[in-house]
Amino acid sequence: MERGYRSVAIDGPAGAGKSTMAKRLAGALNFLYVDTGAIYRTVGLAAFQSGTAPGDRAGVSALLPGLDIGLAHGADGLQHMSLNGADVTEEIRRHEISAYASGVSALPEVRAFLLERQRALARTHDVIMDGRDIGTVVLPRADVKIFLTAAPEARARRRYEELLARGQSADYPAVLRDLLERDERDSSRAAAPLRQAEDAVLVDTTGLSLEESFSLLLETVRGRLGA
Ligand code: DC
Repeated sequence: MERGYRSVAIDGPAGAGKSTMAKRLAGALNFLYVDTGAIYRTVGLAAFQSGTAPGDRAGVSALLPGLDIGLAHGADGLQHMSLNGADVTEEIRRHEISAYASGVSALPEVRAFLLERQRALARTHDVIMDGRDIGTVVLPRADVKIFLTAAPEARARRRYEELLARGQSADYPAVLRDLLERDERDSSRAAAPLRQAEDAVLVDTTGLSLEESFSLLLETVRGRLGA
């Protein structure tokens, strides 16, 4: 059986710091960082642009065959996304696209459409992949599984500051409310809901600084990889 590439799965709710941590871990370990949320966001953006409601199962399914979703890792290690030839790396981060991404990601057709693509990356690279169902569905045999979480208020505060840093207007109570709604939707859906894999290590970063979180994660991942 072919083996050789290693994989680290990081799952958890919105705003837990998955992408920040996964990006840094990937740099430290020289693994490819794969942000699967960005792929769902690109499908969400496609629904938004076409005026299709994210919960419109038939409408969103009909869009899928026509979507040209590009994923490229630049020399900077960053994951750039394109939709039908246009670079949408920045646009998919818009606040209203989060709800669209969460909505379309609940549709089994969308998950099936993206599953093989995610697995293919792990067959050809050492990967650190973050998302909601990486340890449970996409890479059930990942070498290391982390479930990264933090209290909702801490996660909402980080998201709020992230939006401000990007120059977007933001309102903390609204960010917290949207985050709780999204957690609920991502966790309660029937198709690949957000949940901790049985063999995942739980890391709660509520009281930890970025540096403390990173050190803890790097130690955990290195220990498990034997690296
Ligand atoms: O990680 P994120 O906030 O960029 O993800 C956007 C949405 O995509 C999130 O609300 C749920 C969905 N998602 C998913 O269902 N499965 C994944 N593996 C990654 C993201």
